[in-house]
Amino acid sequence: MTDFKDLVQIRYSCRNYSPIAIDNSIVEQLLETAHFAPSATNAQPWKVFVVSSPDGLAKVRKAYNREWFATAPVVLMLCAQTSKAWTRADGKNHADIDLAILADHLTLAASDMGLATCWVCNFDAAVLSQNFNLDADCKPVVLLPLGVPATDDIPEKKRKSVSEFVEWL
Ligand SMILES: Cc1cc2nc3c(=O)[nH]c(=O)nc-3n(C[C@H](O)[C@H](O)[C@H](O)COP(=O)(O)O)c2cc1C
Repeated sequence: MTDFKDLVQIRYSCRNYSPIAIDNSIVEQLLETAHFAPSATNAQPWKVFVVSSPDGLAKVRKAYNREWFATAPVVLMLCAQTSKAWTRADGKNHADIDLAILADHLTLAASDMGLATCWVCNFDAAVLSQNFNLDADCKPVVLLPLGVPATDDIPEKKRKSVSEFVEWL
């Protein structure tokens, strides 16, 4: 197990995957770890599709047509169920926030297992809904390609310094 401070630094957006297949048991282990993610009122307003069949991958790739994305042997399609999520008194629905926490747990847990991921939100949501016949209350929010990274190189983290965005009151 990786020290948490190391883990957050070795997790990066991988855009080049090796063709090594990922066993279903590995994906199950990853999901078991990440499913402890918190959510508002513990509503867990999400549905996860593990896309690994040739047919499923062809469908998901139509919604995000990038050469690098097609190298991932597995794609997790994370969908939000808005009707099941907590809504604050002012009307703000928390489904996307909950889903983002789940996604973050998945990316960190994958890195801890020596796997790589990349958050992808720039996809065509309508294509996914149509290709996978998703319910109206099952909105794709994040695609997470998952696999063994093709190289061991971990890119340098480019971040603002903490003092640039923190204000102590
Ligand atoms: C909400 C969100 C959406 C993103 N969408 C995409 C995307 O559609 N395509 C992509 O290549 N990277 C996407 N990224 C990855 C970011 O570009 C990346 O996280 C950022 O540049 C920091 O790099 P790092 O993840 O390697 O630390 C997304 C990241 C987040 C958090």
